[in-house]
Amino acid sequence: MTAAKNRILELRAELDQHNYRYHVLDEPSIPDAEYDRLFHELKALEAANPELITSDSPTQRVGSAALSAFTQVRHEVPMLSLGNAFEETDMREFDRRVTEGLDLPVGDLFGGGAAVEYSCEPKLDGLAVSLLYQDGVLVRGATRGDGTTGEDISVNVRTVRNIPLKLHGTGWPATLEVRGEVFMSKAGFERLNASQLEVGGKTFANPRNAAAGSLRQLDSKITANRPLEFCCYGIGQISADIADTHIGNLKQLQVWGMPISHELKLAHGIDECLDYYRDIGERRNGLAYEIDGVVFKVNSIASQRELGFRAREPRWAIAHKFPAMEELTELLDVEFQVGRTGAVTPVARLKPVKVAGVTVANATLHNMDEVARLGLMIGDTVIIRRAGDVIPQVVQVVLERRPDNARPVQIPEQCPVCGSQVERTQLVKRSKGRETVSEGAVYRCVGRLACGAQLKQAIIHFVSRRAMDIEGLGDKSVEQLVDEGLVRSPADLYALKFDDIVDLEGFAEVSSNKLLSAIEDSKKPGLARFIYALGIPDVGEETAKVLARSLGSLERVQQALPHVLTYLPDVGLEVAHEIHSFFEDAHNQQVIEDLLKHDLQIQDQGKLGAEFAASTTLGGFLDKLHIPSVGPGGAQKLADRFGSLEGVFGADWLDMRQALPEKQANSVREFFAVEDNRLLAEAAEKQLRDFGMHWQSEKKVVEGLPLAGQTWVLTGSLELMSRDVAKDKLESLGAKVAGSVSAKTHCVVAGPGAGSKLAKANELGLKVLDEEAFVEFLSKHGILV
Ligand code: IVH
Repeated sequence: MTAAKNRILELRAELDQHNYRYHVLDEPSIPDAEYDRLFHELKALEAANPELITSDSPTQRVGSAALSAFTQVRHEVPMLSLGNAFEETDMREFDRRVTEGLDLPVGDLFGGGAAVEYSCEPKLDGLAVSLLYQDGVLVRGATRGDGTTGEDISVNVRTVRNIPLKLHGTGWPATLEVRGEVFMSKAGFERLNASQLEVGGKTFANPRNAAAGSLRQLDSKITANRPLEFCCYGIGQISADIADTHIGNLKQLQVWGMPISHELKLAHGIDECLDYYRDIGERRNGLAYEIDGVVFKVNSIASQRELGFRAREPRWAIAHKFPAMEELTELLDVEFQVGRTGAVTPVARLKPVKVAGVTVANATLHNMDEVARLGLMIGDTVIIRRAGDVIPQVVQVVLERRPDNARPVQIPEQCPVCGSQVERTQLVKRSKGRETVSEGAVYRCVGRLACGAQLKQAIIHFVSRRAMDIEGLGDKSVEQLVDEGLVRSPADLYALKFDDIVDLEGFAEVSSNKLLSAIEDSKKPGLARFIYALGIPDVGEETAKVLARSLGSLERVQQALPHVLTYLPDVGLEVAHEIHSFFEDAHNQQVIEDLLKHDLQIQDQGKLGAEFAASTTLGGFLDKLHIPSVGPGGAQKLADRFGSLEGVFGADWLDMRQALPEKQANSVREFFAVEDNRLLAEAAEKQLRDFGMHWQSEKKVVEGLPLAGQTWVLTGSLELMSRDVAKDKLESLGAKVAGSVSAKTHCVVAGPGAGSKLAKANELGLKVLDEEAFVEFLSKHGILV
């Protein structure tokens, strides 16, 4: 055997073992990054030696050429369904039939009967699949179909990560048909739908549909990209018995690499089955996947054989169902609610229906894009889904039931609360220099605080614990204050008098005084709290903290231009625009001015944050201008050559061509020939200088810098600074920052969670710094974090 073949076999065995530990035992022993490294090593070796590729290699789970149709498969042993039980009495009846069928003593009201042993498993909500192994190798995968004939989905099942392509160990029967459920976890389903929305693809109503739609794909490459999982619950055709019990069979299959349920349990008698049902029922919402009940099976295989089948159901098993999470009802109307930022959101008014024990009469429709996506009309029959504790959702329209008088859903032109105009605002997202219009069009009432709905919620947010923390002012009291006309803006809270409050419902002398002193006590908020309390769209507590920490004063936050704001960690251009336009708005300026008039003293640090100051480099600045076809590398070259924005403006063609290739050089000139672009860049640069920052105005002489000629690599997560900042700092010392480790790498900075890059650095004996050592290193070179 060649060395390559040896290594391939070694890698496959190792990857199979890790797959097993990860998917079957739920006990991964290596980090994902290490798995990826082994996987890529195997892929590279196979690419170099294609004759060594076999169908059971872990690299072969990527799908194959699309089929034109599925071929049919006959099930040697029919794939049956299960009888259902809904009530405890149905279960006791089942147990009585089993006990009688096995000629065991049946108990009476006082007990005394035989306790049959049952296996208990969750009933996964996916689709039944048969996997045929010949001599331990997966040779065929099939759907259940009508139970007798299914579809050959072999290429698709191969892409499911936790289905073993080859059984582990030894001793398996020559022919072994494994049966189980292919399903999608709740998290996988959410991820899939989110990414489908992003690419404008079809979304799925529930994890079951998503699993079915993904598995029954003629193009198995699509299946390969879907987060499908398998769970084995039984066997079909088999050339030799495995164990005496159902649980024994499953445990043995697990040893051979088959994923089985972590919830598999043995119950002695029906009462323990009922306990199991209740226990899983209580934990149902917290499980990683959806289940629609539990399945009980007589554990002894001999007893199963004795009991046999009735019609298409085994007499030895039953599904004890949970209340359904989906129900049909009628959409009576769509109403519109106005949120804190004025967003007008459609809400479905439904004919009340019980879903899993809870009466549902309303469901959120999120936005008008969602209404369009569902193709929803008033009068439609719809499927309502209540997954766990989540707000009920309309997941599908039953088109066949659409009445003739169904009406389209229309966004109102006037705000339903204040009558102001409703405007459509399209958020603009920029990606890689190109301008793309973001998906979700938001409709907003332009009434601002003149709109009762917005005012109430703005005040509720303003006084909340994490904002100005004014205790003693509940939602109901805010409503009253607004309805009575006592509060028309957050500033009015500071003008409230004892007499205004004492007459409010639920207020008395003591609570009125308490509230007044809470209002007084809130007059010295930290800057972050104050910014958060303003309720700027898209600015949560974290972003407010970043703004406060980086810019250091309300004045700077108010003035900051979008391009300057994008220097802050986690602030993209979209949020930067939201912040900027919030403070540009005359109405908001008035609200802030009024607040400050009430002797509000905002506690700030006054100076710029160190991280922000360090993060601005000319290269980074030019990059953030998003000059078409000029990436970060090109921007850095401009910075290195010209040293200042004026330098770039003043460059002649020859100079420019020395810095950049022709296409990029042209693009830079064209970009700055547009006056708006030039002004924008100048304004942002001027502001950065006004804020007290400056970059080297001379040309940067890389050669003279301490790390000139060195290549550094950053890996893992850094806690004291973002990766971008770390990169800028290294570059400011003259180093190049690369994405991968090689023998030419000078040093690797490895934070927690570092994986294959760190491993490789160690292998190559490179210098490695943890974050602490890195910070120390920087400080030695005069860069403080
Ligand atoms: S046993 C003869 N066990 O429920 C026994 N089924 O109506 C056949 N299912 O189509 C099935 N979880 O897809 C069994 N732990 C489990 C199950 C399960 C889900 C599905 C299966 C079948 C349907 C039964």
